[in-house]
Amino acid sequence: MQQNNFLNNAFLHHLSIQCADPKSLSSFYSETLGMKSKQIHHQEKIKWLCFGNDRRIIFSPGKKKNLDFAAFSLKDENSLMNFKNILINNKVSISEYETPFFMKGSFGVKDPDNNLIIFGITEKNKGIALSSTYSDNIYGPLQHLTFKSKDVERFEKFYSEKLGFFVSDRVLKDNGELATSFLTSNHEHHTIACFKADVEEIDHHSYETGEWHRIKDWCDRFEKKGIQLKWGPGRHGPGNNLFIFIEDPETNWIEISAELEVLHNREVKIWKHEPKTLNLWGPHSIMRS
Ligand SMILES: [Fe+2]
Repeated sequence: MQQNNFLNNAFLHHLSIQCADPKSLSSFYSETLGMKSKQIHHQEKIKWLCFGNDRRIIFSPGKKKNLDFAAFSLKDENSLMNFKNILINNKVSISEYETPFFMKGSFGVKDPDNNLIIFGITEKNKGIALSSTYSDNIYGPLQHLTFKSKDVERFEKFYSEKLGFFVSDRVLKDNGELATSFLTSNHEHHTIACFKADVEEIDHHSYETGEWHRIKDWCDRFEKKGIQLKWGPGRHGPGNNLFIFIEDPETNWIEISAELEVLHNREVKIWKHEPKTLNLWGPHSIMRS
């Protein structure tokens, strides 16, 4: 299977995550990741929105590690309409859904684990106002989101066959069962991924800082704020990216990544389900199953 062109240039733009205490979690993200925050009303709920330095995340009251929605931006109205028509042809159920960052016309689809995925176009005026850089700036745009699921095969099938994502890498157990699937909607190695587990929830979300030396800057920043790394530095097999992980106060995993593989029409890669696949440098790996 070759990378197709259906979704070229759909990028993960913002996330809305449920949590126990949206106000205090938004304070943590503002302080730790260098964003501003403000209270908003959205979908009849009071939420907290963090924004700045190409990072945008919304926190709403609810169940820890539950996704409200993940929003992907497309290039323009034509791209969005073309994609919508593909979904209609693929018999995907679509519903209108407005977000604080997208123009009217954005819509959502539900994946087999009931995750809401929104597609839209960035609101130009809001985009300028909300994505300005600040004195407290450190580079690392939001880049990918990963899930835990009881059924990775079903997850992969939906994103690849219904939404047109490209499966870049697969991690297989010795018995042939799919442990992890990495999928992308553009040239980045993955914009979404799914790990086999005994729960359905968010696994982690990631900010791509591009270069190794910026990982060092992030580590120094975290240390100054009293935050210790949970995992890394290391290098993943799939995606070949350098990584560190920290955990927020509600145990969400935050990844800072660099050197994520750029795809150029290659075949899917298969990996063995073992600790080394998750961290080529070793020795410590977080196995999900
Ligand atoms: Fe990741």
